[in-house]
Amino acid sequence: MSAILAVGPYTEAERDAFIAELQPTFIATRTELDALDGASRAAVKAIAYKGHRPFGPEEMDQFENLGVIANFGVGYDAIDVGAASARGIKVTNTPDVLNDDVADLAIAMWLMQAREMRQAEAWVRDGSWAEKGATPLNRKVSGGTVGVMGMGRIGRDIADRLAAFKCEVHYHARSQKDTPGWTYHADPVELARAVDYLFVALVGGPETENYVSKEVIAALGEAGVIINISRGSTIDEEAMLDALESGAIAGAGLDVFVGEPKVNPRFLALDNVVLQPHQGSATHATRAAMAKLQRDNVAAHLAGRELLTPVN
Ligand code: 8YV
Repeated sequence: MSAILAVGPYTEAERDAFIAELQPTFIATRTELDALDGASRAAVKAIAYKGHRPFGPEEMDQFENLGVIANFGVGYDAIDVGAASARGIKVTNTPDVLNDDVADLAIAMWLMQAREMRQAEAWVRDGSWAEKGATPLNRKVSGGTVGVMGMGRIGRDIADRLAAFKCEVHYHARSQKDTPGWTYHADPVELARAVDYLFVALVGGPETENYVSKEVIAALGEAGVIINISRGSTIDEEAMLDALESGAIAGAGLDVFVGEPKVNPRFLALDNVVLQPHQGSATHATRAAMAKLQRDNVAAHLAGRELLTPVN
């Protein structure tokens, strides 16, 4: 049994790189975790965690020598960091290396929703173009009034892209940031009222649950479109579905969902939404960089060096 336990759905490429560097023991599911014997548990000093299932005190207490949980992902809401800190366990994540991909996907969903690219492609594929003529007109995005909810690293990269689209950028964050003249709103409802397109780039976790509330969604209004690349939990999903169904907002582009990978079937009946399977960081290059940062954190812990990207 290795001192490193890699938990979760690692790809073949990730497994190969991990084995070449650190020879971990892999387990894919919670059931396998429960099946480990006492000696195997005692050997574990580091857990490399991948996935969105909660990893809390009950799991941590199974490993008496656990010193670090290295998360595969910038968002570590699956890991109970308070419980880890209380046990002297360090947690690390994989910030920055995925910013570009996630911001790119936000922009792609924005364009896809507003320019009705899914419907337009179907227009070509089903012969409508030849039979009926030009596709129905859709909506301009460049120069629009846009809001970014959460101005962390990814929010900033989204806003930079939106600025290149000549948009008027507004944002909400806990505090005002140093920006090139973007408009700060201390109140999330005020942000939604001021913009047509709302990009959600909040961190996940209990503090931001339903942060994009019924009131925020109502304030966005009937021209409003929500783009979410953060976590499903940051939006009141039922309120958003009601608004999408009734036309209280115009549409949404969503990469994340409450209860994913299961998606509320109400979304599937809607034509004004773009739905993606939580693939923000899912490029070969970025996933390799995330995996490398995770391994580097594990290696640093085992060698007694400073962790690269600690969160507690
Ligand atoms: C996941 C993500 O890590 O980084 C994050 O916070 O949500 C993703 O990049 C990825 O789905 C692997 O679990």
